[in-house]
Amino acid sequence: MKHLIAPSVLSADFANLQNDIQMINRSEADWFHVDIMDGVFVPNISFGFPVLKAIQKYAAKPLDVHLMIVNPDRYLSEFKNAGAGNITVHIEACDHLHRTINAIKELGCKAGVALNPHTPVTLLEDILEDIDLVCLMSVNPGFGGQKFIENTYKKIRTLRTMAYGRNDSLLIEIDGGVSTNNAMKLIQAGANVLVAGNAVFSAQDPFLEIFELKNLNPGLMGS
Ligand code: DX5
Ligand code: ZN
Repeated sequence: MKHLIAPSVLSADFANLQNDIQMINRSEADWFHVDIMDGVFVPNISFGFPVLKAIQKYAAKPLDVHLMIVNPDRYLSEFKNAGAGNITVHIEACDHLHRTINAIKELGCKAGVALNPHTPVTLLEDILEDIDLVCLMSVNPGFGGQKFIENTYKKIRTLRTMAYGRNDSLLIEIDGGVSTNNAMKLIQAGANVLVAGNAVFSAQDPFLEIFELKNLNPGLMGS
């Protein structure tokens, strides 16, 4: 499959959100990546349901909701009602991950598990068949515009090998510091969903930046 691009709304212009949403609608992006931060699991607060519902109103593509919150179980159905197509929870925030994953799937959403940079992918060994997506954090979660952590390549390769023959359609999403400089290398390692916030919204032409991330040209890429 061709890789998917999920621009992160966190870096959008919140005073002009409708503009940025419509730009993403017109672009080659596949999903809207929506970061929910509670100020407890991560040292930052982003936004909640009123903003999410406003995004849902205009977004013409699936919402990929990344929950950086403690106790996500409490809010799963509310996120579904606010338009989530995918719901990703952090393994570090879930005591009963299997139960949480099942609850997400029962709502009719794709179930994702996010791992912080220090969390080994081998912790997914006994839940690999049950999940649709793994979000590998390639920065410490909480903020956009941080530097990509190089150890992520190793994690992608290990996870892709683990999933081989067990969950071949597993989506491996990379979140943090993704740009046209590392996108090709991430895909080659086995990733198939790229989140990009800063790279898209700080570009002179965000629409073109999405096009370039989607249509990677090996001749023009960095390593
Ligand atoms: C970080 C968020 C990311 C963030 C990525 O905690 O989960 O989705 O928006 O932003 P960039 O692409 O700017 O690193
Ligand atoms: Zn995210």
